[in-house]
Amino acid sequence: PRPILLTRHGESQDNVRGRIGGDTAISEAGQLYAKKLANFVGKRLKSERAASIWTSTLQRTILTASPIVGFPKIQWRALDEINAGVCDGMTYEEIKKNMPEEYESRKKDKLRYRYPRGESYLDVIQRLEPVIIELERQRAPVVVISHQAVLRALYAYFADRPLKEIPHIEVPLHTIIEIQMGVTGVQEKRYKLMD
Ligand code: F6P
Repeated sequence: PRPILLTRHGESQDNVRGRIGGDTAISEAGQLYAKKLANFVGKRLKSERAASIWTSTLQRTILTASPIVGFPKIQWRALDEINAGVCDGMTYEEIKKNMPEEYESRKKDKLRYRYPRGESYLDVIQRLEPVIIELERQRAPVVVISHQAVLRALYAYFADRPLKEIPHIEVPLHTIIEIQMGVTGVQEKRYKLMD
């Protein structure tokens, strides 16, 4: 069985400020995670010559991958974070204050709610289809470095979790979710590399 390792990028400047979306660099804590991740991947996939590292096109995932050496890296636009449209760059507090109707509609139906000029979780799930097809096709391990909403959807696919749960699945920062696909089904391990 070959593992798929799922992880969010290291903490970003926007994470520190509580801003959603954006394309900021990673913080000092994020850089430390990137090093720990590279160390983990180096050991875990030592003899896996065909393994590859998949990131989004946003710099926080590319920077998180950068200390990993010895494996090819592939950027997928389909792995970019949910597009928050007009709310991109705002904090949840700002959305609640300045666009209360949007805030309430998202709270009521987070799965179907689409940000104005942006995406819904259902949109994200749909655009992930080619990534999932390619992940299924791979015979070698893959490390996926992506974002909260995207990883909720990917994880739900492999862990066979119902659609309605997807927007609420816990995918914390600085934690690797290892998924093993064997003949007897899917096994999962979580490695928290930092507090
Ligand atoms: O806050 C980090 C982040 O990745 C944002 O960029 C994104 O909008 C959000 O998480 C997705 O999580 P939720 O759907 O819970 O708002």
